[in-house]
Amino acid sequence: MQLKDFAKTGRKVSVLGVGTYYDPAWIATGFLGWKRGAREKVEAIRAGLDAGITLVDTAEIYQSEPLVAKAIAEKNRDEIFLATKVWSNHLHRDELVSAFGRSLARLGTKYVDLYQVHFPNPRVPIQETMSAMEKLVEDGKLRHIGVSNFSLEQIKDAQAALRKTELSAVQLDYSLLHRAVENDVLPYCDSEKIALLAYYPLGHGKLPSDSRLDQAAGNGRTRAQVALQWLAGKPNVFPIPRASRAEHVWENAGAGTWELSEGQREDLDSKYR
Ligand SMILES: NC(=O)c1ccc[n+]([C@@H]2O[C@H](COP(=O)([O-])OP(=O)(O)OC[C@H]3O[C@@H](n4cnc5c(N)ncnc54)[C@H](OP(=O)(O)O)[C@@H]3O)[C@@H](O)[C@H]2O)c1
Repeated sequence: MQLKDFAKTGRKVSVLGVGTYYDPAWIATGFLGWKRGAREKVEAIRAGLDAGITLVDTAEIYQSEPLVAKAIAEKNRDEIFLATKVWSNHLHRDELVSAFGRSLARLGTKYVDLYQVHFPNPRVPIQETMSAMEKLVEDGKLRHIGVSNFSLEQIKDAQAALRKTELSAVQLDYSLLHRAVENDVLPYCDSEKIALLAYYPLGHGKLPSDSRLDQAAGNGRTRAQVALQWLAGKPNVFPIPRASRAEHVWENAGAGTWELSEGQREDLDSKYR
């Protein structure tokens, strides 16, 4: 598995990660205590770690933090880059600190590598949220700060609100099928060296059945691997495909062990313009 610099953190992280958002039904039934398919999901996350993936993405809302805790329990915690998120109703200082404490407990860990604001909330000043995040960093419980589903302007506001540290990551929808970030956020991330975590990297499951990927896949690669390598091969982009089935995760991890040629990239860029 290839590794690359994660923003300016000084950490090298696998070029792709595993995502642990499943579906709204899982979240709804999770609140009721039902965890159908939990064992397979834990195995899928573990498969990613066994394949050399070190980046794991979860969120307080996903109902998957306890699964991540199980999957990482017997691994070397320091080798894992653990990312979670705070929901937009917990962005005032005290709420954020409490939500973070609950995530730590569910994750069974003493620290989180990346804490991300899941969605912006215009009713809470970003200065208050970012100052609460920086307090967690000061206390040694949090390593790095990120935001998700923020516009470029909101990203800049979040960055400007940080006094003692820098914004390390932005998480947005990015795949061959959805390239809007290339217009503004991606060039900004590249110039500021901010990591871009690409969610829906398989087009929410559509790309593995898209025949436009066949030429680049050739004989040795699969469509999913081509779609993920197209993202993972970019300097600051880390795709986080969903891990709910181990065989898919093994296949997807194969996207981090080879590189598309420049010609293949150009061909894909033009096919998906
Ligand atoms: N920040 C946000 O607001 C936000 C929003 C959405 C998602 N996310 C993050 O992004 C992650 C990915 O999003 P997503 O899961 O919706 O989209 P995705 O990864 O683009 O697509 C997932 C779908 O692709 C299928 N799949 C995975 N690997 C495959 C393969 N090799 N061959 C064929 N099918 C394959 C999955 O099936 P199986 O499940 O059967 O493997 C699932 O149906 C989430 O888990 C979450 O961590 C973040």
